[in-house]
Amino acid sequence: MERYQIRGGAALEGRVRIPAAKNSVLPLMAAALLTDGETRLEGVPRLADVVTGCKLLEQLGAGVSWEGEDLTIREPETWDPEIPASLAGAMRGSVFYLAPVLARTGRVTLPMPGGCNLGPRQIDIHLEGLCKMGAQLHWHGGKMTLLAPHGLRGMEFTLRLPSVGATETLIMAAATARGNTLLRGVACEPEIRDLAAFLNRCGASIRGAGGPVIQVEGKETLKGRSWRPIPDRIAAATYAGAAAVAGGRVTLENCPMEETRLFLEMLEQQGCRVSRGEKEIEIFSPGTLKGGAELVARAYPGFPTDMLPLAGAVLLKSRGYSRLTDTLFQNRFACAGGFRAMGAKVTSRPGGILIQGGLPLRGAPVEAPDLRGGAALLLAALGAEGTTLLSDRGHISRGYPDLPGSLAALGADISPFPAP
Ligand code: EPU
Repeated sequence: MERYQIRGGAALEGRVRIPAAKNSVLPLMAAALLTDGETRLEGVPRLADVVTGCKLLEQLGAGVSWEGEDLTIREPETWDPEIPASLAGAMRGSVFYLAPVLARTGRVTLPMPGGCNLGPRQIDIHLEGLCKMGAQLHWHGGKMTLLAPHGLRGMEFTLRLPSVGATETLIMAAATARGNTLLRGVACEPEIRDLAAFLNRCGASIRGAGGPVIQVEGKETLKGRSWRPIPDRIAAATYAGAAAVAGGRVTLENCPMEETRLFLEMLEQQGCRVSRGEKEIEIFSPGTLKGGAELVARAYPGFPTDMLPLAGAVLLKSRGYSRLTDTLFQNRFACAGGFRAMGAKVTSRPGGILIQGGLPLRGAPVEAPDLRGGAALLLAALGAEGTTLLSDRGHISRGYPDLPGSLAALGADISPFPAP
């Protein structure tokens, strides 16, 4: 258990560089297995999910090495297509290994993937699509095994909802399948464009990624290449939100502009000033916010679900009423209890929360319920009077290399707190 002591009230000042996107890096690490030779991913943050991904690659037989922030992945000489429960259960991103391992070895075994408890997180679309490509699915003792001894074949498939993970699974499976694949109703998130662009660089033929229809012409082999993953839009929103709550002036370097637009516009509506440069953004917050907001998280290009709890932390400080709704995950607002413990007026309702903002927040003992909910509690603590003790069972470090340390470098009063 990690524990942090946060004394609210310190304004933030300075610059922070946005790292590569966790949700791009994780599928890219798995996709490297589709390629012959070596893949080099540049500028990768060593967050806990990436470390789990490295262990998973090694378990499967791949070589993994770091040189500074660059991660090299070497194709396995011998494969072990069995993923242990300890690694599968440590992160949702373990599901990305289904397609590449199946494509390369004709077999993969995976216990149910873990990750944040945001409500039911099914993987039926991943499995349905892979079965349509010729895989046979067997369940035994809580594990799934997929077999495709004669390889995967191209197909036409319409996703019943635009799942980000299932879109990524099926792009990876189709990249080296026999024949052509047509995917309809896919997710359009920027991380999907990044995955398709990387695979194309390795020799794949994937068209339409970023839109609702993707066409893939299967290729027999792909060759490992170097790739720099896109910057993390959720990390950018986290630092922008921290500046808004705490007050002060923070510059985000390497900020993805279009992908953070909706969050930054929300901050402007609350009274923050946002200056947009070519590759960096400066956020100035007067510390007092007003307006309230109505936000509904939807699939891209809608308001991102992962930014919703962060927006909630900002709107606790904004004089006015806010209504936040998530259409993707039922349990997105597990952090609402922590907000209330800090004195906020937050009412839970089906699909979301109502906030009566602008009331004083006071420090309290709280626990991170999940990754983004934990980051949201950290942000709220920056704007609270007195001291917050935040306990975290490893959720926040799964998604940020060192969020408390980076906020402290900007002037926040945060320090590790020894266990009792
Ligand atoms: N769904 C199904 N069946 C499936 C797949 C998904 O019913 O086969 C449902 C899920 O139950 C959920 C909804 O579809 O209600 C959306 O799930 P999706 O598959 O789009 O999300 P994901 O791939 O599991 C990724 C990110 C999440 C992010 C979502 C939405 C990774 C590793 N995770 O999850 O990121 O919230 O897309 O954008 O890429 C985070 O970073 O904190 C995080 C949770």
